[in-house]
This record gives sequence, C-alpha cells and structure tokens, in this order.
Amino acid sequence: MASGNSFYITTPIFYVNDAPHIGHAYTEVAADVLARWHRQAGDDTWSLTGTDEHGEKILRTATANGTTPKEWADKLVTEAWKPLLATINIKNDDFIRTTDERHETNVQLFLQRLFDAGFVYSGEYEALYCVGCEEFKPQSEIVDGTGPFEGQKVCAIHSKPLELLQEKNYFFRMSDFTDRLLALYEERPEFIQPESARNEVIQFVKQGLSDLSISRSSFDWGVKVPWDDSHVVYVWFDALLNYVTAVGYGQDEEEFARRWPATHIVGKDILRFHAVIWPAMLLAAGLEVPKQVFGHGWLLVGGEKMSKSKLTGIAPTEITDTFGSDAFRYYFMRAIAFGQDGSFSWEDLSARYQSELANGFGNLASRVIAMVTRYFDGVVPAEAERTDAELVIHAEVSAASDLADASMEKLAVHDAIAAIWRIVDELNGYITDQEPWALSKDEANRERLGTVLYTALEGLRALAVLLSPVLPEATARLWTALGAVGALGALEDQPLREAGTWGQLPAGTQVSALEALFPRIEATVN
Ligand code: MSP
Repeated sequence: MASGNSFYITTPIFYVNDAPHIGHAYTEVAADVLARWHRQAGDDTWSLTGTDEHGEKILRTATANGTTPKEWADKLVTEAWKPLLATINIKNDDFIRTTDERHETNVQLFLQRLFDAGFVYSGEYEALYCVGCEEFKPQSEIVDGTGPFEGQKVCAIHSKPLELLQEKNYFFRMSDFTDRLLALYEERPEFIQPESARNEVIQFVKQGLSDLSISRSSFDWGVKVPWDDSHVVYVWFDALLNYVTAVGYGQDEEEFARRWPATHIVGKDILRFHAVIWPAMLLAAGLEVPKQVFGHGWLLVGGEKMSKSKLTGIAPTEITDTFGSDAFRYYFMRAIAFGQDGSFSWEDLSARYQSELANGFGNLASRVIAMVTRYFDGVVPAEAERTDAELVIHAEVSAASDLADASMEKLAVHDAIAAIWRIVDELNGYITDQEPWALSKDEANRERLGTVLYTALEGLRALAVLLSPVLPEATARLWTALGAVGALGALEDQPLREAGTWGQLPAGTQVSALEALFPRIEATVN
C-alpha cells in the first residue's frame, strides 16, 4: 500500500469554544470517507484534522468560564473533540492543535519570511469585527439588526452585533495578489468546487482585494509576532497555517514535499479564507497553492445553519447512540448532495435506515449467508454456467465500481454511494427473480442454485469492499461472515479500484453466521 499518488486531505480545524454538533461531524465524515477511499485504493494518503485554539472567541469563552484559554482548550479537546472522532469512527492520521509547539514555531517562521520579503507593513485600522467569525466583515456581510439588536449592525452569519475595532495592526499585502488569484481560478477551474462556490469567489476577488490585517494588540492569546511581541498573529492567519505545519513545513522538508499540496474540505462559510487568503499567503511565501478547495453546504434547521450559538445544535451522540456510527456516516453522505445544503430530519434518517440499510443492504446480506448455510452447509459453491442474468450482475458491479471511483475523484460522495447502491438493488432483484428457495427443492437444479448463490456472494464481496469507507463496521462484519478474511486478507487491504473484477471469492470458502447488520430499532425516536 501507500505506493500510489499522494492524497492529502484536511478538515477545517475546529474552534474549541464549544462542543461539536452534527454540522461539525458532517465535515469530519466527508473528509474521512474520502480519505478511507483513497487509502484503500493504494494512494499515499494522509488525513488531518485538529483544533483552532487561539483568538478572542476562545479567550472570552475561557474567561467567562473562569479559566485560562489553554486549560479550556485542553478540556474541550480531551472531553469533546477527540471523543467525537471515536463517536463517528474517524480514522485520521494526525490531529493538530494550534497550541502545539510544532505549529507555533513554524507560524512565526512563515510570518518572518513574509516580513523579510516585504509583504508585511504596519498601519492603523478601524473596522467592524465579528468575534463569532473572527473576521473584519466585508460590507456584503454586514446587515441591520432586528429584535434586541434593532439599530445596530450585525453579522449576516451570526446575527450578533459587530464590534468597532480601532488598533495598530500589521498588514499583509494581499492586494498584490488579486490578478494572480484570478489567473489561478481561470487556469485551474477545479481549484474551487463546487461551481457555485467558485463563481462566488471569483466575483468577490474581481472587486479587488484589500490588504489583510494579520495581527492584534488588544489581547495576547495567540502566537507572538516574531519581531514585535506586543502583537499576536491574527487567528485565521495562524489557523490556516496548520495545513502546512502539520506536514513538516519548516522542520521536515522531505515530509512536506511528500504531502503538500492538500485537498481542503471546508464549509461554505469559510470558503473565502481558504480560496482567497490562504492561496495568497502561499503565493507570497513561494509555496504551492492547495490542490483543491471544496466548499460543502450547511446542515440546516428551520432553514438556517445549525449552530450552537442559535441553540439548534444536535450532538452527534444523540444520533449514534440509537443508530450507530455507520448509519450516521451513511445518512449524511447519501441524503445530502455534497456541496449543497441539507435539512436534517429524524423521520428521514429513520426511514432511510429502515429501507436502505436494514431492508436493502442488511437483509440482502443476511438472506444470502443464511441460504448458503442452509443449502450448502456454509461452503461457498462454485459458479457453473452463466446465463444473461449473471452477466447483467457482472456488468453492473464493474460499472458501478468504476462510476463510484470517478465520483469520489470529483468529491461527489453522494453520487459514489448512489452508484454502489445500484449493486444492492440489482442483487435484490436478481434473488427475487431467480428464486433460490424454489431451485433448492429439486436436486436437478443443484448447479444452478450454486451459480445463483455464488453470484450473490460475489456481489456481497464487492459491496463490502466498496462500502467499507462509508460503513466500516458493518462491512467488517460482513467480510468476516463471508469468510473473506482467510481467503482474501483484511478488508482494508482490498484494492478498491479492482473491487469490480469478478470472481475473487474462492469457491470452498466457509461462511459463518451473520447477525443483522442494521438491527431493527425499537425505541421511537423523539
Ligand atoms: N476554526 C475555523 C476553521 C479554521 S480552518 C483553518 C472554524 N471553525 S468552526 O468550528 O466554526 O467550523 C468548522 C467547520 O464546521 C466549518 O467548515 C463549518 O462550515 C462547519 N460547520 C459548522 N456548522 C455547520 C453546519 N450547520 N453545517 C455544516 N457544516 C457546519 O470555522
């Protein structure tokens, strides 16, 4: 493994002011499914997640809770953010905290290099700041407040009043990069995805970029500006650098060359930071820009972005405690077109769990294993003469796995799952048509029965491989029940891009009992 192309994927690093809700978990799952897919396909994969711990927002939260920001961050990382990864079964390669020494030192190194190259100057600044976004807001995101904030200017995202800040700051000459960024978007249309996100960014940059304030002097919770320790580095400038400090920037050039550039998965609210500020910073430092920035949509509640500050956050464990982590991963990746907003509903989750996971996939697996146990003492039969019905299944498995890979390549995770699900539907239809239970009644049909059940088992073998990035637990259980561990090796070592090649499960393999992959859920939800 790990001999193929480099694939480095990142999630945003999460603010530790509060515990995660399912919107955060959504970003994590998407990046994890893509990472698992590439890892299993043999690409030299690295997946990074972590936490964003500096800045005024964290400082204020810690102070309000009567503690220091570092103690607060430690607590949230240990009690909330790292446990989230287990809750939704994330297999990350690294977890970076912006308070890590490896990060802080190299943020200073990066900034010093920009300063030495003449890209930083000092000046006075007065503008409206949103602590929720940790951003001086552009005019387009400043709106008039309503209700308790009537008469005030509020942030369009947080609906909270903006603060007028007036400070001496250091500035990054971002305006120098307007034309180079526009040329980049033009030359590499896939650089920002989806298309709607790309268009928005282009419109924004076309208006011309301003220089960016990159330091704060009214508080001290951050990385110190190397040549002036009365300033700390602006939290976004600090945070964006995690993507390079985590893979050796400034300390391990070989590792850095191996991993960088990255594919960044981010919510659309923070797309501009990643598609404008970040590449401008990298260009100024003479580094390669990211491979791709993908802006996904929001989970909505009542038509608005789910958020803790608006008290609409749902904790991921509320879902996984009942449905399990596989169902969580499947539901959000399948039900929402990646790149678009989606409304979460318990009814939709329950309905899909029942019809697609339990009845569609789970039942298929249980029935086939049970029939092999009953009719062939649990030994995988040989495939005898193939009819058109089998050839249709072979072609479908092969086409679906190619289509799934092509969709994952485009980060269209929902399309990839839909393609794989065609195999589930085809196999269910095939079994209904072939009626193995009827074939079993006459010894003269023994070979035909063997062919039908072999076809179903091979289909399940392909499904286990293709679905393991999305449903790691259920597919591992299926893999064991198929007897495939002994015959073919560990599931995560199965080359994903060859999943559609027919005939891999050897006849003679012993299958074993399979408990329901997606058990019936008795408790009524909410
Ligand atoms: N710390 C910054 C990111 C720095 S990256 C260099 C940040 N953190 S965050 O915790 O507020 O958000 C992290 C991610 O969660 C973002 O991609 C954001 O879009 C995502 N989500 C937060 N609420 C969400 C929904 N309701 N729905 C989908 N994603 C959501 O921003």
